[in-house]
Formats: sequence, structure tokens, C-alpha cells
Amino acid sequence: MNFQGYPDREMMMRALADQIASELREAIGAKGRATLSVPGGTTPGPIFDILSGVDLDWSKVAVMLNDERWVGEDSPRSNTRLLRERLLRDRAGDAALVPLYADAARPEDRMDALAEGIAVHLPIDVLLLGMGADMHTASLFPGADRLAEALSDDAPILLPMRAEAAGEPRITLSAPVLRDAMHIHILITGAEKRAAIKRAEALPPEEAPVCAVLANATVHWAE
Ligand code: 6PG
Repeated sequence: MNFQGYPDREMMMRALADQIASELREAIGAKGRATLSVPGGTTPGPIFDILSGVDLDWSKVAVMLNDERWVGEDSPRSNTRLLRERLLRDRAGDAALVPLYADAARPEDRMDALAEGIAVHLPIDVLLLGMGADMHTASLFPGADRLAEALSDDAPILLPMRAEAAGEPRITLSAPVLRDAMHIHILITGAEKRAAIKRAEALPPEEAPVCAVLANATVHWAE
């Protein structure tokens, strides 16, 4: 794990947005297109705001979430809604959204169709992840019902996931899909998450799922 600390959040968001933009440009230059995967939650909003105004050929970028809460876009808990409001507008409005949600009662009902849509955009070129203080990343929660499957080397692309801390049912990219990304950035803020990521290094992924992607990741942190 590479740890990068910043004097404040604003500097971190600017620097990381710049880095993501140049990694996307590099991927587009090399193969004509790029895949960006991003988290939902409360932390990444400012990066989305900056990226949405960045000058790059967004029509060649596919954007997908790391994970989604199984709620419709009319819910304030919808990560897809966050993406539409903060990232997929302005210049980035030309990017293609790869869905992780479809209208159905349970994630299991749409899993195969959603995974098929994602498969053509793999591997991920630029992966931005968040992390909870319980060391979950994407929807790989400690104690989640299908965590062991999602961590295994032959895991499918997508899995439904249920955990007490998750609230509603979730759908998540599996650990091998996340780990295969060309560039991996984990964005965290505050003393509690800093302590958690240090603790995670010494724990197995069943207890600290973020470990599954830590080896090649850069952790970006500001107070
Ligand atoms: C989600 C996420 C999740 C998130 C962490 C951190 O849908 O909740 O994708 O993995 O990144 O829970 O969330 P915060 O940034 O809100 O602390």
C-alpha cells in the first residue's frame, strides 16, 4: 500500500481529480477508450464536481459504480442518483453510464444482465474506492452473507450482498474485478479511517475486506 497524506481535503480532491483525469487520458491514448469505476457514499462528491468539468474525451469513457444500494433513483440513498447529479453532467455528461441497478425487487433478479453489461468494459482502467471505518470497501462488508464468495479468486463479476451495516440489499463488484484494475485509489478522510486502514494491513480480508485491494492501491488521506 502506498499512503499519500494531504494538508487538507480540498487539495486532496484537486490533486486526485487531476491524477484520475490523466490516467483516463493515458488509457484513451493507449486503447481508444477507458473505464472508470467510482464509489457512492458521502466522501467523493467534490472529486465528482471537479471531474465533471475536466477537459477530456468523455465520450470514450464508461463510468460504473463499485457498488449500488438496491434502491431506485428516486431514493436519496441511490449511488446512481449521486453519479448523475455530481459526475455525469457538464463535460462528463458525454460519458456512458454502465448500470449496476435495474428496477426489480431483488438484486438476484437482474444480476446476470447487469454483469453482462459490465463484462465488456473490463478490466477497469481507473478505480476509485471509498472505505468505511469498519474496513469495508465497495459492498464487501465484514460479516456480509456472501463475502467469502466475493473474495475468492474465481468470484463472478457481480454479487448481491447483505450485511447488517449495509442497510438495504446491495450489489457489488467482486474482489478480483476490483484488484484487476490498472490504477487503484482509495479515498478516505478523518482520523478514524486513517487508523482503520493501518489496522487493516495486518488483518485477513474476511475481517478487513479492504485488504483484498490494498497491495497495489494508493490510499489518499486528509483530516
Ligand atoms: C456505498 C459505497 C461504500 C462507501 C463507503 C464509505 O455505497 O456506501 O460505495 O463502499 O465508499 O461506505 O462511505 P462514506 O464515503 O460515506 O464514508
